[in-house]
Amino acid sequence: MSSREQGARSAAAQRMADLVQQIHHHDFRYYVLDDPEISDAEYDRFFRELQALETQYPDLRLSDSPTQRVGGKALEQFRKVRHRVPMLSLANALSEAEFVEFDERAHRVLEVPAERALEYYAELKFDGLSVNLTYENGALVSAATRGDGETGEDVTHNIRTIRSVPLRLNDQAPPRVIEIRGEAILPIRDFEKLNEEQARRGQKLFANPRNAAAGSLRQLDSAITATRPLTVFCYGLGHVDGLELPTMKEYQDQLETWGFRVAKWREVCHGADEVLKFYRRIEEEREKLPFEIDGVVVKLNRFEAIDRAGYISRSPRGMVAFKYPPRQETTTIEDIIVQVGRTGALTPVALVAPVYLGGATVRRATLHNQDEIDRKDIRIGDKVVIQRAGDVIPEVVKVIETARTGKERKFHLPRHCPVCGSEVERKEGEAVVRCLSRDCVAQLKERIRHLVMIDALNVEGMGERIVEQLVDAGFVKRYADVFRLTQERVLELEGFAERSSAKLIESIEKARAPELYRVIFGLGIRHVGERTAKVLANHYGDFAPLFTATPDELEQIHEIGPEVARSIHEYFQDAQSRHDVHDLLKFLEVKPPRRAAAGKAVFAGKTLVLTGTLPTLQRSEATRLIEEQGGKVSSSVSKKTDFVVAGAEAGSKLDKARELAVTVIDEAELLRMLR
Ligand code: IVH
Repeated sequence: MSSREQGARSAAAQRMADLVQQIHHHDFRYYVLDDPEISDAEYDRFFRELQALETQYPDLRLSDSPTQRVGGKALEQFRKVRHRVPMLSLANALSEAEFVEFDERAHRVLEVPAERALEYYAELKFDGLSVNLTYENGALVSAATRGDGETGEDVTHNIRTIRSVPLRLNDQAPPRVIEIRGEAILPIRDFEKLNEEQARRGQKLFANPRNAAAGSLRQLDSAITATRPLTVFCYGLGHVDGLELPTMKEYQDQLETWGFRVAKWREVCHGADEVLKFYRRIEEEREKLPFEIDGVVVKLNRFEAIDRAGYISRSPRGMVAFKYPPRQETTTIEDIIVQVGRTGALTPVALVAPVYLGGATVRRATLHNQDEIDRKDIRIGDKVVIQRAGDVIPEVVKVIETARTGKERKFHLPRHCPVCGSEVERKEGEAVVRCLSRDCVAQLKERIRHLVMIDALNVEGMGERIVEQLVDAGFVKRYADVFRLTQERVLELEGFAERSSAKLIESIEKARAPELYRVIFGLGIRHVGERTAKVLANHYGDFAPLFTATPDELEQIHEIGPEVARSIHEYFQDAQSRHDVHDLLKFLEVKPPRRAAAGKAVFAGKTLVLTGTLPTLQRSEATRLIEEQGGKVSSSVSKKTDFVVAGAEAGSKLDKARELAVTVIDEAELLRMLR
């Protein structure tokens, strides 16, 4: 290289470092402080200049260059990462009285006399998805979702696209390692815009900003995440090496200095009264906030006090989530319609005058069933209070009786299915009325919709409207008919052309090799959600045993209760269902669960008993891990027990194990065997 070239290279390197620093600074002003110093056009010029230099000198590109936020190649699946310090959860205070109890308990635990106010730190409780950001020597090295608290999913590639997350800490002497915790959220306006776009593209709408944030962050393709205006508010601390700060306030101030977004609504409160004032003030401001919160979080301000207060069932005793009651609004019931679900349940639904509630416009509210309508005396034309809490469908809480005019009309569920006209039945002891017909089109549509949905067989592009068309045209009468569809058939439907029909057939083809649990879930068996489907798939590893499983046998499986067991048994005893499932299976190449093959599974045919508190695993996690390896977890020790896994404060079961000379192992040994 000539000396001129070398000179140009080093000038470029200098300029690139300078641009990286400037862009980071302007990102911080724009995305964190909401207070830009330069115009968008100027910013773009910097950005393009940097991109041009990086194209010319790719080897000089800095690892924390802002151009690297935009996303690279899509991943096959998320990698699991273990948090260095587990991400715990918070206990709730659901009323002011409960918060006062929390304060009293804290006094007792810390042995501080009641008249001496405790020092708290109060802040917002963001309603998003918690993330753990790991920085080593100041550089962002990994980002993960909370997962089960111990292990989360590696979303580093996605987090890097979020401009309010610094790629490097603004610090000359950063801690060697630090885990910074925060909440990824999508502001309400952006959530609404995203849903408008989803609707335009005929894609599924997100129920609320939190789901939208989670869906955006858990994308295998970070280019998609990059298009979603996510932001992260930071508040918490996990593992740390090389930083000592005495209080939460100082820590959060430090976060701000490092370049993180920290909400400005936070303050040190002396005693419960000051916390209550903060809580009430934020409740008033809540409607005006551009993002969703579901309460405030109150923490002892001193880290040492939090440690001293200790932990109870995976929640620190020195912190509490002080929640707000669910949001409510008043509106008018314009009509009541009846929806028929996939198991034939008739659900009365109120069509209400549109109201804005909790980040979305509500047009429908569930009335649950006839008993609820009678108990609350709900009538068409009534002015009512509706509420929505978190994810759930809005519901009618009560009628404003003083607003009655006398023109309101009572409502009764019909005696016949509103869709197919068949008789309906209400079983003794049940609140639900069901359509009994096997051929009810409404049920069929719901069943097919469920079968093809994203969490089941995932036939991309086969949305509600298309299922409706397919059933109405008589092309789909049972599960397997989805796989009998041909392009010629699809072309007969309104709105389909050569390309769109070919695409649909291609999606159907792609759905032919699902994992076992997806098929079990997709059948839409009453009470069998995704979680139960996974449990069944892991337990049996194959479809065949499900056809013959007795309720007793099913109940032996951890996490399966009597009602669920009965429902599964009934489903597979029914000749029509059996026929439909066999028919469907002919078209599928079902993938067995990713556990070890039965022969090779470590605990195949073995029975284990868990006792005491294990140091890191929760009982449900340990059970799942054992079952995945073919083992059975039993609740009592007998001669047939192969291993007893004992944790702290193991009691009589451990004694019994010793008496019967059953092998006793600890968690570490269990994990070793599982590996
Ligand atoms: S501190 C021990 N602070 O609420 C856990 N959490 O219900 C310490 N959250 O999983 C958490 N805003 O995802 C903390 N200002 C805040 C928060 C917050 C939202 C979430 C977080 C946590 C959940 C616990």
